[in-house]
Amino acid sequence: MAIDLKQTGIDPDLPTIPPTRNTQEAVRAALGDLQGNILQSHGRDHSRHLFITFATASADDRQQARQWLASLAQPAYVTSALTQYEEANRYRETLRTIDRNGAITAADRMAMVLSASSVFVGALVSADGYRDLRLGADLTPDDPSFAAGAKERVAVLNDPPVTAWEPTFQATLHALVIVADDDPVLRIDPLVAELKQQLAAVGATVAEETGTAMRFDAQGNPSPTGNVHEHFGFADGVSQPLFFARDIERARTLNGGIDVYDPSAPLDQVLVKDPAGGSDGYGSYFVYRKLEQDVAGFRGDEKALGLEIAQQSDPKAQDPTDADIALAGAYMVGRFKDGTPVVEQQVPGLVSLPNNFSYDRDVDAVRCPLASHVRKVNPRGDKQRQFGVPLTQERTQRIARRGISFGPVTLDPAPGDSVGLLFLCAQSSIPDQFEFIQALWSNFEQFLQPGTGLDAVIGQLPPSESRDQALEQPWPKVYGSHNQLDFSQQPPAPTSPFFPKRVGQWVTMRGGEYFFVPSLSALQRF
Ligand code: HEM
Repeated sequence: MAIDLKQTGIDPDLPTIPPTRNTQEAVRAALGDLQGNILQSHGRDHSRHLFITFATASADDRQQARQWLASLAQPAYVTSALTQYEEANRYRETLRTIDRNGAITAADRMAMVLSASSVFVGALVSADGYRDLRLGADLTPDDPSFAAGAKERVAVLNDPPVTAWEPTFQATLHALVIVADDDPVLRIDPLVAELKQQLAAVGATVAEETGTAMRFDAQGNPSPTGNVHEHFGFADGVSQPLFFARDIERARTLNGGIDVYDPSAPLDQVLVKDPAGGSDGYGSYFVYRKLEQDVAGFRGDEKALGLEIAQQSDPKAQDPTDADIALAGAYMVGRFKDGTPVVEQQVPGLVSLPNNFSYDRDVDAVRCPLASHVRKVNPRGDKQRQFGVPLTQERTQRIARRGISFGPVTLDPAPGDSVGLLFLCAQSSIPDQFEFIQALWSNFEQFLQPGTGLDAVIGQLPPSESRDQALEQPWPKVYGSHNQLDFSQQPPAPTSPFFPKRVGQWVTMRGGEYFFVPSLSALQRF
């Protein structure tokens, strides 16, 4: 039974009260056939990514590869969205029990948490996979960028040439299997070993990436209950499109409300009908990018920008204060390290990772610069103000981020450590969502207005251009000052409230691929 993908706020636990778009039965059937990690993050702190290249030369090879993929649809392997939803309910209940029990050892806590959930497994297939396994054009998802594959989209995205990618990604990749859990040793390792043994038996080659969520408390100390941070030191994974009524309700009550910024999204933000699936079969397109972060480079920019901020009030300042450096970092990301949006205030400290903000009161970008990462990648109404593009359209370009960090778990990597983000995101259209954001917002130096410059975190010039050819981005001379300027005064106020300074380009793409996450009914038919 097909479902109406325009629905927002689905609730698998609620018998439908007419008139809603979908019956409870239809929602549960669709979620039972859909893979997890699309509508909600799987939430596990450890993740192993197996990049698979099947032997596909003979009909026998192809048959074996397809059978292996089909075998993943057994309940012991791939986690459905419904299972994930129900496990998340149990997980929350377990956390409540832990809270009620008060003092509890870390080991007991982990044991209780693990007993509430199973190992997450996801299976993704590339366009090369559909083609080389001869799955047939009518069964193959038809997004044009997916069909082309990431290697063909390098020029659009200003990515490094494929010859500069890591060997894993230079290879033809047919499938990606994600195995994730909170216990990497007792629960991930054995399952990965089992899958690799099966893959060796069908003559497939496997390359691996390992992801670990980096949790830190407000003081920057590692903490199993802290918020997830990325290697530049900022809380990550905060603002996401939300699909379940329960998640929207949590945002309403815990993350500062939803009246200024509404995080809810219809299912078709990330779901499409799976051409190979049954009547309940839906899938999603996933972008995978290995993004290496140069932490020392980023820190150098934070300090240099911090010094310029300091010198706006004291031209003789020799060193930036910690507050200047924190503000510089917040200008670059759009949030302070603790997640406080810089558009809201000049210092960190807002609790519970607020997401209920927009740029309506900062049209001049003197609080949150237009080159800041979060403003570039989710302009929250800027397009409507600037170009008259309806907010509803801008909202369709949102992506659901499902990435995880790689490299040592530290905010202070040693020189030579390779650290960064295994960036993953879900969407229903790769050209209209991920590619649009990266190419036309982050990389485009004239978005939203001439001279905006590159996204200070992920913006990239074509590899043929040297990094100092990037425009200097404009930064507020004094936080929030322009809004306070009185143009009726004589002599007129200073002509520009901004000073120019080039920052960013500390993230390097090391390779990637586009995948489709097929429905379980499709996998079974492989
Ligand atoms: C938000 C870091 C790559 C899209 C954020 C936030 C941080 C961050 C710290 C703010 C917290 C949050 O809302 O989750 C990074 C780093 C990256 C990276 C360090 C690379 C190493 C990307 C890429 C894209 C992207 C490649 C897409 C092209 C987004 C989006 C948001 C976000 C859509 C939410 C913005 C909002 O709704 O306010 N990122 N990011 N990020 N990032 Fe990234």
